[in-house]
Amino acid sequence: MRQRRTLAGVLTVAALCLPGFTATADDAGTTHVPERQLTDVVPAPVEAKPDPRADFRLSPFTLIRTQPGSAEAKRVGEQLAAVLRPATGYPLPVAATKRSWPSTISLLLGKADPRIGDEGYRLDVARRGVTIRANTAAGLFAGTQTLRQLLPAEIEADRPQRRTWTVPGGKIVDYPRFAYRGAMLDLARHFHTPDEVKAYIDELAQYKINHLHLHLTDDQGWRIQIDSWPELTTTGGGPGTGVDGEGPGYLTKAEYTDLIGYAAARHITIVPEIDMPGHTNAAQSTYAELNCDGVAPPPRTDIEVGYSSLCIDKEITYTFVEDVIREVAEMTPGPYLHIGGDEAHATTEEDYQKFMDRVLPMVYKYGKRPAGWNEIAKVDPPASAVPQFWGTTNTNADLAEAAARGNQVIMSPANKAYLDMKYDQNTPLGLSWAGYTEVRDAYDWDPGSHVEGVGAESVLGVEAPLWSETLRTLDDIEYMAFPRLPAIAELGWSARASHDWESFRERLAEQGPRWEWRDVDFYRSPQVDWR
Ligand code: ACM
Repeated sequence: MRQRRTLAGVLTVAALCLPGFTATADDAGTTHVPERQLTDVVPAPVEAKPDPRADFRLSPFTLIRTQPGSAEAKRVGEQLAAVLRPATGYPLPVAATKRSWPSTISLLLGKADPRIGDEGYRLDVARRGVTIRANTAAGLFAGTQTLRQLLPAEIEADRPQRRTWTVPGGKIVDYPRFAYRGAMLDLARHFHTPDEVKAYIDELAQYKINHLHLHLTDDQGWRIQIDSWPELTTTGGGPGTGVDGEGPGYLTKAEYTDLIGYAAARHITIVPEIDMPGHTNAAQSTYAELNCDGVAPPPRTDIEVGYSSLCIDKEITYTFVEDVIREVAEMTPGPYLHIGGDEAHATTEEDYQKFMDRVLPMVYKYGKRPAGWNEIAKVDPPASAVPQFWGTTNTNADLAEAAARGNQVIMSPANKAYLDMKYDQNTPLGLSWAGYTEVRDAYDWDPGSHVEGVGAESVLGVEAPLWSETLRTLDDIEYMAFPRLPAIAELGWSARASHDWESFRERLAEQGPRWEWRDVDFYRSPQVDWR
């Protein structure tokens, strides 16, 4: 896949040199028909009103103007310029100025449509320029992601393309359905480097995903530096760890902090997960005292689940857990700390309750809001705790009771939202315990009515987890995430009324060439007529 950009680049340059091809260029600037339509955006905008007389063309003289006095708006402007410069070859200066210019992209704060809230935006395309208005930098950033998709796919090229750059005229008003729109990456089964995580973040941001949940610990590996238990990483994350012993590595505190900053600059909040009281073999094989019998079990590199449990009746368990929660909370500015809690089959129900009764308050003690897999709903957690549904059916009595008590939940049904499920029987990567998940399966469900007794008002949002038992490289991650991640992103962002498979599959097809230009691997689902 890595050669494709080169090939596509060569083909495009060749095509541009052919007589007649340049006829598509619009020298008069009056009759050009943009190849994009105002509604060709993933996730679908709430409201889009095309105006064919108002198309805008980027030019070598276009200025990116940002809200005077706002460093955050300036940064969004610089990020937009960095996206648009390589393919256009235009200078696109960014200036925090009130002055207008004959060709301007304006990123302005305030005086926006009251409906847009904290993350929405209004985008107006007129002949003299594009204006994005929002209440926050996050809203401006979301608007620039839309603008990016309104330009031809070649805008994603990494060097100048000879062509015109037209944005279809009209007005968009857009804002999210759910506050939490997440993706999850499993660094435990195979470690993924900070650069790989950043590459994934770059893609997530384009689909208006605003949370990245990192699954940092599991039976096969411990991937986050903890100063008070230093061997967790050197041994628990060291050589030979990971599935088949082939996924060693861990994030230092500095790398984790750097990732948080990288994500924050793209308006994405990191949600760290420390899975417990099960999925803990990496810790327990590193520190013998964390086992009831004081004997460290061997490291595990297979993909079994449900066999490990911290020792519920040993005090050192809670010293360990509190140290880890404190250190992780201290380096995490975001509101959530995920404590796992899934598949604790080696912990009795009574012990599970006992454990959570001690651990949930620790999360609050260090200033964080606990999230956990849906099993935590069994222990009647505080109303601000966030259970994450990962079941494969449409009923879960514990979750429905939690919703009735006031808990908000995250929806990640494994048979819809798990990006590591195979697309079909021929998919070379992934697992299939929740079934095959084609693009339409990932798209055709409603997070607001999926689980009986859990209505939209109880749904904080959606998340697309990507478990990495079978995934090693960034290409592997991309192949499983695309094109399903955008399906989950649309369920999180777009109004329910706009849900439409035919529309989605057409808009998704337009993403294919963009992924090719960006060297992003993806599955060419037969359900989509790829360009
Ligand atoms: C899970 O898939 N065990 C949350």
